[in-house]
Amino acid sequence: MRQTLIPSLLGLGSLALAAPAPSSLVTISTAVDASSAAAWWDPLDEFGGYDYLAYLRNPPGGSGGSLAQNNVMVARRDVSTGAIVRDCVKTGAGECAVEADDAGHSVPSVAVDGAGYVHVFTSMHNEHWKYFRSSSPQDPTSLADRSGEMPDQTVNVTYPVVKRDAAGDLWLMVRGWAAGDTSAKGGYLYRYTTASGTWARVSLFAYSRGYSVYPDDIQFSSDGDVHLQWEWSKYPASGVRHEGSYARYSPSTGKFRAASGQEVPSLPMTQATPDLVFQPLTGGESYAHDIGASPAPALQSAKMALYERPAGSVHVQVAYRFQAATGGPWQVRRARADFGSGAGPWTREVVYAGGDTSAGLGITHDGATVRIYYCRVGGSAQVLERTGSSGWTDTALGPVAGKQVQRLQAIMRADGTDVLYLGAPKNVDASTGSLYYLTVGGR
Ligand SMILES: *[C@@H]1O[C@H](CO)[C@@H](O)[C@H](O)[C@H]1NC(C)=O
Repeated sequence: MRQTLIPSLLGLGSLALAAPAPSSLVTISTAVDASSAAAWWDPLDEFGGYDYLAYLRNPPGGSGGSLAQNNVMVARRDVSTGAIVRDCVKTGAGECAVEADDAGHSVPSVAVDGAGYVHVFTSMHNEHWKYFRSSSPQDPTSLADRSGEMPDQTVNVTYPVVKRDAAGDLWLMVRGWAAGDTSAKGGYLYRYTTASGTWARVSLFAYSRGYSVYPDDIQFSSDGDVHLQWEWSKYPASGVRHEGSYARYSPSTGKFRAASGQEVPSLPMTQATPDLVFQPLTGGESYAHDIGASPAPALQSAKMALYERPAGSVHVQVAYRFQAATGGPWQVRRARADFGSGAGPWTREVVYAGGDTSAGLGITHDGATVRIYYCRVGGSAQVLERTGSSGWTDTALGPVAGKQVQRLQAIMRADGTDVLYLGAPKNVDASTGSLYYLTVGGR
């Protein structure tokens, strides 16, 4: 175990790293459905001077709403004034869509394209597309159903992770279950070309008979390459996963490469694709008993950050939760690879093993500093930070102390400021929680 020493407690004063400085807490909503919680999701984006936070509202408005249902909301917050405009995604009749509660599955992901249009994928657990797009730029009040515009209309979709690249196009990764397939659920990658306003499938990039893909994250390097991160479970589905994986897609060549730098020998990729897996099976770890149980050792939830120092290099860092023994604490681990360093590129370390953690995780990297955000079960959100070869610090995010934050997303601005989406699923009552917004650090 690599338990962390907090320099300020050790009296190291100016020799120690300054603890990352959070802003004051912003409450986005205290009417959040308790099911508005997942690890894989992507409910936060920032573009054009606004932050966009997607969440599920409880109790729902609209026709027929019950406590077991919700409305899918997008709150747009003005970065400079703090003004919030919010609205629901709407049915064709112009009412708030009413969706079934299903924590961990039927939650929203949001991204804004380079022209400012807001895109929401939501409320799909092995279902056909539920996709909403704003009818005008920067406008969360005009989110209309555009599901019919998606490719692959007969594929049943779960876990939409969607991100904007530097050119303003969107990239979407989902777990797809092809109609009639009884052996696997694959990893599908799609691209939204903002100039033409159209979605197209790029690839069924991961598919392995007997297994299901669990998308985690998408990041971009400065050359426009798309970096993908996902997990595997036994088919059809499991609460725990294994063999966390990473690959890099180059739109300019249409090729996928592993962290070693080698082009993947064939598509779709499987767990056997060389150097794909950042966390191999450990002693005693197996997929065998995953269905209807959650035996350890196992992995669950992962996020990724890239950095390019010196220019021209790409370094991949992965934060993930790993449970070494059934019933034991979910640790926070980090895996790293210098892209293109040849066979066996991954190294791993345990960063936090001092107690149990919940599924929310985030990682950012600025300069020589890496930050991993996580949540303590029975506590709230924490940040692990390390600069260069220093030790890790582990600091409670003071503004959310006592708020019972258990889910989060972290994104980083160009100036190194982290923007945090912080979900406390049940801190109001058994079916209602809160959503908070916080920024941390920055140059
Ligand atoms: C696939 O999705 C459709 C529409 O959402 C649904 O009716 C059907 O039951 C789903 N199939 C499976 C196998 O879940």
